[in-house]
Amino acid sequence: MSPFLFVTDLDNTLVGDDQALATLNHKLSQHRQEHGTKIVYATGRSPELYRLLTTEKPLLEPDALITSVGTEIYLNGSDTPDSGWSTKIAQGWDRDLIVATSAHFADLVPQPDSEQRPFKVSFFLTKEVAREVIPRLESLLQNKGLDIKLIYSTGQDLDILPRNSDKGLAVQFLRQQWEMSPEQTVVCGDSGNDIALFSSGQERGVIVGNASAELLEWHNANPADYRYLAQAACAGGILEGLYYFGFLG
Ligand code: GLC
Ligand code: MG
Repeated sequence: MSPFLFVTDLDNTLVGDDQALATLNHKLSQHRQEHGTKIVYATGRSPELYRLLTTEKPLLEPDALITSVGTEIYLNGSDTPDSGWSTKIAQGWDRDLIVATSAHFADLVPQPDSEQRPFKVSFFLTKEVAREVIPRLESLLQNKGLDIKLIYSTGQDLDILPRNSDKGLAVQFLRQQWEMSPEQTVVCGDSGNDIALFSSGQERGVIVGNASAELLEWHNANPADYRYLAQAACAGGILEGLYYFGFLG
């Protein structure tokens, strides 16, 4: 078997079925040891909430950690974000102006302080009003000359990021550093902020069986033979996909 680059979201993708997680962890750590496979977590969580999760669930130590919806990359257990990536995404980013502009929208409820990051401004926004609010907010921000990207997940979270960042672009950055091809790479996810994982290149994609409505809607509108919709939920769906693509035999 050859090495591959394994990239997964955490909440409701890697984490959610403890028994399947134990099986997957065992297979992945063995593969890493024997073949040099790399393990990357790509989460919406801040580093703080990521650390909290590591106290709750048995997670393997990743070779790289992508946090805050792709706006921070931590290599080899470092607690300083990769400066090459920060520099790349910083262009045209004006956090204060984004916060001030968003304040005009009563429907946007700020997320906790821990989830407000140097390159990420996050709100709660209900499904009922999201379709109307998001385009209005986006055009107001663009009219102020801001180079941003809005990402809506699980029918409740709205993230504002620099235009040149998201989970998928962060994976492209790592893939180039590690010289891994899209064919050797598999990305796994369940919700809106994972669409970027599936759409920025031709990496093998695994959508877990419990995926949220916005991801399924996108998948149905953009089918591709390098993407697999699993039957099983969470880590069980990841295992299913790894066998489907032949990464595990
Ligand atoms: C995680 C983050 C939150 C973000 C959400 C969706 O839950 O903590 O800030 O909005 O992912 O990306
Ligand atoms: Mg998730």
